[in-house]
Amino acid sequence: MPAKYDVAVVGGGPGGYVAAIRAAQLGLRTVCIDKRDTLGGTCLNVGCIPSKTLLHTSEMYSYLEHDALEEGIACQKLHLDFPKMMQRKEAIVKGLVDGIAGLFKGNKVDHLIGSAAFVSPHLLEVTHGSQKNEVEAAHIILATGSEPIALPSLTFDEKRIVSSTGALSLAKVPKKMSVIGAGVIGVELASVYRRLGAEVTVIEMLDHICPAMDHAVSRLLLKILEKQGLSFLLSSQVVGAEVKPKHVSLSVKGPNGEAAIEADVVLVAVGRRPYTDGLGLDKAGINKTSKGFVLVDGMFRTNVPHIYAIGDLIEGVMLAHRASEEGVAVAEIIAGKHPHVNYMAIPNVIYTSPEVAAVGLTEQEAKEAGLNITVGTSAFKANARARCVGKTEGFVKVIGEKSSDRLVGMHIVGANASEIIGEGVIAMETKATLTQIAYASHAHPTMSESIKEAAVETLKAKS
Ligand code: NAI
Repeated sequence: MPAKYDVAVVGGGPGGYVAAIRAAQLGLRTVCIDKRDTLGGTCLNVGCIPSKTLLHTSEMYSYLEHDALEEGIACQKLHLDFPKMMQRKEAIVKGLVDGIAGLFKGNKVDHLIGSAAFVSPHLLEVTHGSQKNEVEAAHIILATGSEPIALPSLTFDEKRIVSSTGALSLAKVPKKMSVIGAGVIGVELASVYRRLGAEVTVIEMLDHICPAMDHAVSRLLLKILEKQGLSFLLSSQVVGAEVKPKHVSLSVKGPNGEAAIEADVVLVAVGRRPYTDGLGLDKAGINKTSKGFVLVDGMFRTNVPHIYAIGDLIEGVMLAHRASEEGVAVAEIIAGKHPHVNYMAIPNVIYTSPEVAAVGLTEQEAKEAGLNITVGTSAFKANARARCVGKTEGFVKVIGEKSSDRLVGMHIVGANASEIIGEGVIAMETKATLTQIAYASHAHPTMSESIKEAAVETLKAKS
């Protein structure tokens, strides 16, 4: 006899586990199924959390190595204990994934370990080793996330040809590292290993990095990262690869012809794709898009009305916090509520040094949308706090719609951008105007004063 539930959630990442907890809080009998032994999905196990831990430690190491003396801190014998750095990362991941298991217990969500596959639209078979269980549910939420895209001739072995997963668990710092793709994962992990001493070359197909970002942001970030010693080959593609006993040899075709690059480790970070392997979507009759995303309506419903999908599995930016918003929303929809996810108010962060953060439209998107815009910027070199902490690189850019004066986009390159972008998120969520931001008091001295200053800049243009 199958175990019976009101809601079965497939996938225990930031989309799935949040959906499961909310569903249980709303009184629905809920199970969350995940094939990993630990909850938290890609984000906690092999994504956001381990990468941000390594980014933090490597940034401190780089600060002590290059910048501390400037502040009067002399380090006599700086030494990197790489295994310890990795152990700390694993301990942090463990603490957080155990925390989710605790939340499941507290909220009475059942956790089933195993791979779920549809037998029929309401019935899932869950396989864990030789063990099989059946789960029958009135509502099923698919939240199986995404997986890294591989390139032909560069099959992941997670040792020398690595995806982000392997790059977060290397045995040692490579001497030479090639990174294919200058997107979020590319620039974050290239930064980690550059700071730890690797010679890193990033190969990007486009003529600019981080294509989702505002062009002014992308241009400045490129300059800053180059100053930190990263090499970029733009408008370039890997056209051949040979895995040799001690290194990998890449043939890279760029604006000046073809060149060979050797690396100890190659990170392929050219994007991720929705993960539906083995789910048996056909058994439930679920439709996908031509790109393999599960097709849903505005209520996260697939073409099979009791089956929903959220997160990386459906079209949209692949971000943990977006999946979580959708997780809460889908659980509330199932419980008969009417939630709304405001996609314009979902922030996007790149954890380089300095950080990059954005919410709303880029200047290019605003223009393409035909908006009549006003733009204000403020550089951190004019910010007192930035000077005190020695982090003057970057700027804040605010974009407003002229007639309503409403904020439609905020872009920040600078220290703590990931935190202060919260102000932009609240402003977008509450439809705040640039005038309101300009007149709101900001503590002095803080990095966030540059947000106010950027907004003030737009008022000057008006007066
Ligand atoms: P991405 O879409 O951010 O960047 C991929 C890059 O690879 C693009 O610049 C693209 O032009 C380039 N590219 C594609 N094919 C190529 C080829 N054959 N040769 C050279 N360059 C090529 O994807 P990424 O960095 O893999 O990240 C995947 C997802 O994970 C993203 O949607 C991202 O938002 C998410 N993520 C978010 C993080 C954050 O919020 N801080 C951290 C890590 C990942």
